[in-house]
Amino acid sequence: MKIAILSNGNANYSTKRLVEEAEARGHEVDVIKYKNCYISIESRQNKVYYKGKPLENYDAIIPRIAANMTKYGTAIVRQLEMQGEYVLSKSIAITRARDKLRSMQVLAKYGVDIPKTVVSRNTADIDELLEQLGEMPVIIKLAYGTHGNGVILAETKKAAKSTLQAFYLANDDGVSILLQEFIKESAGTDIRAFVVGSKVVASMQRKSLDDDFRSNLHKGGSGTPIKLTPQEEKMAVNAAKAMGLNVAGVDIMRSARGPLCLEVNASPGFGIEKITGRNVAGKIIEYVEHNATRTPKKDKVGA
Ligand SMILES: Nc1ncnc2c1ncn2[C@@H]1O[C@H](COP(=O)(O)OP(=O)(O)O)[C@@H](O)[C@H]1O
Ligand SMILES: [Mg+2]
Repeated sequence: MKIAILSNGNANYSTKRLVEEAEARGHEVDVIKYKNCYISIESRQNKVYYKGKPLENYDAIIPRIAANMTKYGTAIVRQLEMQGEYVLSKSIAITRARDKLRSMQVLAKYGVDIPKTVVSRNTADIDELLEQLGEMPVIIKLAYGTHGNGVILAETKKAAKSTLQAFYLANDDGVSILLQEFIKESAGTDIRAFVVGSKVVASMQRKSLDDDFRSNLHKGGSGTPIKLTPQEEKMAVNAAKAMGLNVAGVDIMRSARGPLCLEVNASPGFGIEKITGRNVAGKIIEYVEHNATRTPKKDKVGA
């Protein structure tokens, strides 16, 4: 097959691994720096150009769009979809996953258990919102945060109120800030399940090394392999499916009332390979081999 990987380039570990596995399986691979692509749009004549040539006629395109390039990256992916190219992750699914409010709405709609989440744009509602969540502390989360940046633990009502007021001042659209039940039972620990198709291909537990409540590896957390319960495995697969993603990194916390899904990452890192010894990149290439030739499925999430 002729495969294109849209990424920031070969230096990236995930990209390197995808190239390695694809080539080992006899495919031809191009790494496309989507940042350096441009789009030319005319009626019935839309094309993506890279290094002076139109990007076309790939058997499969694997997007690895960085969180800080979501808009540009998904515009490129969307264009390629419209040209009829098979893309592993649909532009709409990537966009959806990058918005934590939209994600929570979709996950809840499809019956995936999540921490209780409330959203408002009115300072006057704060007391009522905190009441809805029940106890303190609460989590305040920016809808477009990543790597644990943008997640705040508010210990007291006063702290929650003043933090929210400050955010409302800076963000007047109201949809960029989520208030969430704090899962204290397993604070500082979460699970990352790497889903490919309808299977979990690797899973690890992440623990913060200090007393941080955030377990992101980017925040200095450490990972160890973990075996998921059947319920957790089902949750991971359902969450990826609900979000319309063929490849996803699903974050789960173990709470007193069972597993809760925190988020679904559309471009999960491959560091999990080193921790679990699983060949995640190989599974992705295998998935592409089996699915790329079929007529692309429509996104059916509806939100
Ligand atoms: N409701 C919550 N209760 C307890 N800890 C949380 C909660 N939400 C997030 N965290 C912690 O913060 C980390 C980052 O949150 P997450 O929603 O995954 O955002 P990000 O996109 O920044 O990774 C999680 O991995 C988890 O350790
Ligand atoms: Mg996360």
